[in-house]
Amino acid sequence: MAAGAAGTRAVLALLVLCSMAAGAAGTSPDIAGNFLVGDGKVTLWCNMSEPQHTITGHKWIHKEKTLKEDNEPGASTSYTFEGTVEEHSGIYECIFEGNPQTRGQVNISVPPQVTAYKKSEHGNEGDTGVLTCKNPSFPAVTTWSWHKSGHGRLENASGRYIIKSSGNKTELRILKLDIEQDTGDYFCNATNPLGTGDATVNLRVRSRLAALWPFLGIVAEVLVLVTIIFIYEKRRKPDEVPDDDDGGSAPLKSNATNHKDKNVRQRNAN
Ligand SMILES: *[C@@H]1O[C@H](CO)[C@@H](O)[C@H](O)[C@H]1NC(C)=O
Ligand SMILES: *[C@@H]1O[C@H](CO)[C@@H](O)[C@H](O)[C@H]1NC(C)=O
Ligand SMILES: *[C@@H]1O[C@H](CO)[C@@H](O)[C@H](O)[C@H]1NC(C)=O
Ligand SMILES: *[C@@H]1O[C@H](CO)[C@@H](O)[C@H](O)[C@H]1NC(C)=O
Repeated sequence: MAAGAAGTRAVLALLVLCSMAAGAAGTSPDIAGNFLVGDGKVTLWCNMSEPQHTITGHKWIHKEKTLKEDNEPGASTSYTFEGTVEEHSGIYECIFEGNPQTRGQVNISVPPQVTAYKKSEHGNEGDTGVLTCKNPSFPAVTTWSWHKSGHGRLENASGRYIIKSSGNKTELRILKLDIEQDTGDYFCNATNPLGTGDATVNLRVRSRLAALWPFLGIVAEVLVLVTIIFIYEKRRKPDEVPDDDDGGSAPLKSNATNHKDKNVRQRNAN
């Protein structure tokens, strides 16, 4: 727990340092871009140093989406949003409309904001376990690694682990899950030029038998039912043979009376 708190503090310190460093992002020669953080808001700036032509408007774009548009003539434009740089990292484009159009860039760069697809995973003994982490933040992760509590770093070379990573995702496959060996906490750690980030995935391995319990339950139920029906049928069979002399049960007695009545009726008819 103490280690976790220290880690969080270190990451926070890095975040502060890095957002300050990232603020110094430059752009195309005649456009200076920057961002400011404060009051739960982030403000992006683009200033054109020596406009060579008439500016007829501005536009801000992020991930191919237009965030803001105006028809002002100024050589400076800004865009403000609520939230943190960690939530909104990425490449932002500012456009000065005119002839020609001039584009600038402001990059909000943060250390990896790693999250686990699922914070806890389950696997059956003998199956392959799959744990996945992603990093949606900018810039992309340059190095991913997987660690297990009390185990150290997990390597492809071990033969039991298969690790596949890209800039925004990593996947750990654990072959032939073992209850003793593989149950526990796994950490996916990410590094980019601004720092590190990690997430924890808890893996629980169930015994094969546990996975079979529901099935075994149904089989047992069916067996019990079949046995009951079988015994019932076996007991019923001798009783079903009509026996006038000693009918043990009420329905048989009434059967017997019906029989006698019929005989009587038949005799009367004669
Ligand atoms: C922003 O990031 C992109 C992609 O990494 C890079 O090509 C570009 O030069 C960066 N822009 C600035 C202003 O740093
Ligand atoms: C852009 O210009 C505005 C107003 O002229 C100024 O307040 C701001 O600090 C400038 N920003 C940058 C990144 O130069
Ligand atoms: C991750 O990268 C892939 C390929 O570069 C891309 O298609 C996908 O949208 C990215 N996912 C996220 C969450 O950024
Ligand atoms: C990976 O993350 C865990 C959990 O925060 C941490 O204890 C460990 O030191 C990290 N390892 C590396 C190599 O960054």
